[in-house]
Amino acid sequence: MNVQKLSNMKANSQKISAITAYDYSFAKIANDSEIDVILVGDSGAMVMFGYETTSPATMEEMLLMSKAVSRGATNSLLVGDMPFMSYHASVDDAIRNAGRFIKEGGMQAVKIEGDRHLAKTIRAITKAGIPVMGHIGLQPQMAQSWDGYKVHGSSYSSAKQLIEDAHELEQAGAFCIVLEMITEEVSKIISESLTIPTIGIGSGRYCDGQIIVLHDLLNLNDSLNPKFVKQYADLKTQTQNALSDYKDDINTNNFPTSSHSWSMESSELKKLQKYLGLIKKNKL
Ligand code: KIV
Repeated sequence: MNVQKLSNMKANSQKISAITAYDYSFAKIANDSEIDVILVGDSGAMVMFGYETTSPATMEEMLLMSKAVSRGATNSLLVGDMPFMSYHASVDDAIRNAGRFIKEGGMQAVKIEGDRHLAKTIRAITKAGIPVMGHIGLQPQMAQSWDGYKVHGSSYSSAKQLIEDAHELEQAGAFCIVLEMITEEVSKIISESLTIPTIGIGSGRYCDGQIIVLHDLLNLNDSLNPKFVKQYADLKTQTQNALSDYKDDINTNNFPTSSHSWSMESSELKKLQKYLGLIKKNKL
């Protein structure tokens, strides 16, 4: 998968599947399931590192996860999420950090949260040869400090602003835009009026693709339970049951059994028994 193929998917009205991943094993599963885009999201700060929000994520943490994901996924388009303050101080900083995702992290593109004010940064990173995915609507890196986790595009002025932002990001060279928690009417207008694909999260049915945080989809994360998440498996309950069965088996001598163990060859065992007999008789 690459940026051009993703663009062709929109042109051919093919829906785009995207998921987050943060480690080798899940990246491999997502890749083998033919998911189109894998995002190493800064949501990893919460689900992998236990921070309360995404803002503390550092470049080093994001690169560690990116490297692991890139070893597991060879077909999906790999996008690294630029963490808070890795692209805000200066455009030079943004290009340098975006470059690290490609050179060190093995990513093919980066994602940046922000509205039209980030257009200059997106243009500069794209010019440096790195594809940029935009991200408007709810921007989790800043939401807690500013307006909280709320739906965007409910009023006329907010809708107008989002539509304009989306077009400015497209003009700046973004190859795709994540629309997070935007009303369905507004995300439909944006998706239909842009030539680049939109990937929705909590933004309704009309986006060109969809993304969910992997741990939400698998019920591995019980700190947040947003309405837009559809749970496809309950790995939390399954893992808890598995671990409690494992503990019980250890306590009741039901694990390991002979099928989990190795035996000596019988002729070698006989020699050993003979040797032990000699020790017992104090002959050694
Ligand atoms: O960090 C993340 O997981 C994201 C997605 C929710 C789009 O930004």
